[in-house]
Amino acid sequence: MCGIIGYIGEKPANQIIFDGLTRLEYRGYDSAGIAVLDGGRLLVKKEVGKLRNLHDMFITDFPSASTHGIGHTRWATHGRPSGFNAHPHGDCKTSLMVAHNGIIENYIKLKTRLTLAGHVFLSETDSEVLAHLIESHYSGNLEVAVRTALQEVEGAYAIVVIHRDHPDCLICARKESPLIVAVGQGENFIASDVTAIMHYTRTVHYLDNLCMAIVKRDGVDFFDVDGHSMDKKPVQVDWNPVAAEKGGFSHFMLKEIHEQPQVIRDTIGGRTSEEEGKIYLTELGLSGPDIFKFQRIVMVACGTAYYAGCVGKYMIEKLVRIPVECDLASEFRYREPIVDANTLVVAVSQSGETADTLAAVREARARGAKVLGIVNAKESSLTREVDGLVYIHAGPEIGVASTKAYIAMLTAFTLLALLLGKIRGTLTPAAVRREISELKRLPQEIEKVLANSAPIRVLAERFENAHNFLYLGRGINFPTALEGALKLKEISYIHAEAYAAGEMKHGPIALIDKELPVFVIATASAIYDKIISNVKEVQARSGIVIALATEGDEEIGKYVEHVIYLPRVSELLSPILNVIPLQLFAYFVADLRGLDVDQPRNLAKSVTVE
Ligand code: M6R
Repeated sequence: MCGIIGYIGEKPANQIIFDGLTRLEYRGYDSAGIAVLDGGRLLVKKEVGKLRNLHDMFITDFPSASTHGIGHTRWATHGRPSGFNAHPHGDCKTSLMVAHNGIIENYIKLKTRLTLAGHVFLSETDSEVLAHLIESHYSGNLEVAVRTALQEVEGAYAIVVIHRDHPDCLICARKESPLIVAVGQGENFIASDVTAIMHYTRTVHYLDNLCMAIVKRDGVDFFDVDGHSMDKKPVQVDWNPVAAEKGGFSHFMLKEIHEQPQVIRDTIGGRTSEEEGKIYLTELGLSGPDIFKFQRIVMVACGTAYYAGCVGKYMIEKLVRIPVECDLASEFRYREPIVDANTLVVAVSQSGETADTLAAVREARARGAKVLGIVNAKESSLTREVDGLVYIHAGPEIGVASTKAYIAMLTAFTLLALLLGKIRGTLTPAAVRREISELKRLPQEIEKVLANSAPIRVLAERFENAHNFLYLGRGINFPTALEGALKLKEISYIHAEAYAAGEMKHGPIALIDKELPVFVIATASAIYDKIISNVKEVQARSGIVIALATEGDEEIGKYVEHVIYLPRVSELLSPILNVIPLQLFAYFVADLRGLDVDQPRNLAKSVTVE
């Protein structure tokens, strides 16, 4: 999604802004722009394309060494990708420029009014209305003009404003969309994401919702929506910048796949006592009586986080014996969901900024449900809107295709299910001890799979030109099939469908022929025999089966051409292991096809619009 940077200090602003935008590339974008203040004039450059192709325009040929400016990467929503539609947007006299993330929902009404009043618009965007609206309210006091303009705006925004008559400051504000102000020595930064600035400073203010800041070289003043001054304490960001680099891997996605053993260790870290059979989730925000009271759990999430919730459903139903439903956040929010004070809603999100998930949370809370967030990004919007949290501790995930966050979500769900089961008495301490011990063994088993990825690359070479794939799984590994198919579609642009294996004969079996590769998750489980029947159904129709099987399974080789053997783990934890070869397969296919693995077309890392 779009990225914002603002800089005011002593260094060349265009370089700092370009660097920051580059670090935000992972969010996805189609165009970029920079505006700086130079001797009382605003210089603006913006264009369609990737930053690497815009380097000369923004750096080598930039006609200024100004120390004060703003920049933006745009992911088109209103208006096609173009230089005119790229941000920042100016007013009629180019006296001010605005970069905006979010959507101004009443922009047509505002634009009509401003056009009638003589304002001339250059773009098709909703965002340009902000520049003209601020201009219409400006009479020497920029802070008042911005505040008054924002009072007329409906929708979501994170904005940064620069004005030619205010060489000492930038103004920023947010509603729903995230924004931070970071503090340096004689310089300050504004950014939509902490990754953009953590090479310069770790001292960060997370701007509160509906608040505004005036950012100067030597200080920052915060205000609420009515202009009352606010006291804010910064936090120190502890993410390692090296973690945000590729670390020798050819892509962030591959690096993040290889980080997964450590991610599981980090997610578990300090939260279990194996001897006592205890789990500690200190930010859970739910009391023992709360946990007893719940009659139902509803998962809400999008994409990969939704599939993690589906695995969580199997874990919780098995260990805690509470009914769990999974709902796509975009569906839940509009269907008058039936939830109440006896329902626990669990919102799952890597970014904590997904618009549909946030809206689902608000809907659930308005109906009296308690909401628990399973979240990666600290201080994200979701963390401020829930009753309790389980942080997944995956660290920054840069690849647009989610991998390590998924693994961390499944690990967090294991801990949550064990804790709920312990408290509700469905699990004995001995059972909890056994599962903790199994969970702690997982990272080393994943390391073995990662160390033996060469056969998966060979398979990718064999199938890189296939046009369609089918993924089949059953029980707790049905969501694994869904996630495997999603990974392949997202980064290789090959059509892939996933089905519960038992459902295949009710329709998708018609697709099977000698051209169709079919992944079947056939690891050891209580329903292994059923899966073997499904494998035979595919074989009988000449489909090409690629089976994921457990080491020591001699039977599977009798039926299928391709087998990926995986170490034996408990059935409950098998989704955490089984997804690894599917991630690798998707990665290798996309890489072999020469595609942009980390930033696939049309996708954004964090989907902050509906
Ligand atoms: O940040 P979130 O976990 O809320 O994001 C949800 C989805 O947008 C995300 O998982 C998306 O499906 C990824 N591209 C999957 O790889």
